[in-house]
Amino acid sequence: MEIKTIADIDIKLASVSKIKDVDFETLSFGNVFTDHMLVCDYENGVWKKPSIEPYAPFMIDPSAKVFHYGQAIFEGMKAYKDEQDDVWLFRPDQNYERFNKSAVRMAMPEVPEDVFMGGLKQLLEIEKDWVKKGKGSSLYIRPFMIATGKGVVAAPAVFYRFMIILSPAKSYYSGEVKVLIAEHFSRAANGGIGAAKAAGNYSAQFYPTKLANEKGYQQIIWTDDATHTKLEEAGTMNVFFRINDTLYTAPTSERILDGVTRKSLIDLAKRENINVEVRPVLVTELVEAAQNGTLQEIFGAGTAAVVNPIVGFEYQGTYYELPKLDQPVALALKEKLNNIQYKLEEDTFGWTV
Ligand code: COI
Repeated sequence: MEIKTIADIDIKLASVSKIKDVDFETLSFGNVFTDHMLVCDYENGVWKKPSIEPYAPFMIDPSAKVFHYGQAIFEGMKAYKDEQDDVWLFRPDQNYERFNKSAVRMAMPEVPEDVFMGGLKQLLEIEKDWVKKGKGSSLYIRPFMIATGKGVVAAPAVFYRFMIILSPAKSYYSGEVKVLIAEHFSRAANGGIGAAKAAGNYSAQFYPTKLANEKGYQQIIWTDDATHTKLEEAGTMNVFFRINDTLYTAPTSERILDGVTRKSLIDLAKRENINVEVRPVLVTELVEAAQNGTLQEIFGAGTAAVVNPIVGFEYQGTYYELPKLDQPVALALKEKLNNIQYKLEEDTFGWTV
């Protein structure tokens, strides 16, 4: 796919770059932002001219709907630099499509492709020095949209702001990840907004995750809201289980996000002749597999964390430790995915742009 730039865009460059003050080796995820951001406002049914401007706070009315009703959506993408200093995106069309699906679900306007993709391309051209080479380094891209329209009437706003900010990234989690299987809380419900990348889906996780952290677990494996018997997502990621030689992951649904990393891993696993079954996975199956020694791996998959191996889980007060493997499938798949993202092997899928 070819991304066209926007002809009609205002560009105001920062007078000084912050890049020299950044230690790219010790970045903690999502704390440092580049020099510029893309901004595009929507007013009364019309998208205005977008601009690229110096990264800075901005004014917003205290009654804006984003504050009161959480009308806000976002995406997570990454840019990678290859050995020739070219910058690559990974399946950006998938993020663009999902962004607009989220917008529709949250009664927000869809963002035109030239603003999202063309604006991103121009922003990345300006910020390319912030994309560092080498596996593990990337530039995390956060497109988002908020309802800026004022008034506390509980109805969709008529004013919105679409923005893209960029943050140089290393890894998302550091150290081992142990998870707690949810027995009471849930991430999403049928008919709800679980399939949208809506801000509220994430803030609703903060409290249960805080309780899990206090018990020594980094994340929660979410179960279905109705019965808490089906395994759905892990923290902010999709989740895979390997029992014997088969990888299992839940089908996407109204409750489960259609993750780009998830679907890419499924395709990669199939290419590598690994058995993959996309079907609901029961908590009882997992516990039984852990007890009889057939559970080999659990891992989360998402843009920010890429592939995140999980070392053990707790369910109903019992902790189950996973085996320490010499050649985990999780890491083999991560390596294959990274090789495509960093252009270290041929992209036979046509995913890189
Ligand atoms: C991502 O993986 O990009 C996500 O959206 C998760 C985010 C909450 C960091």
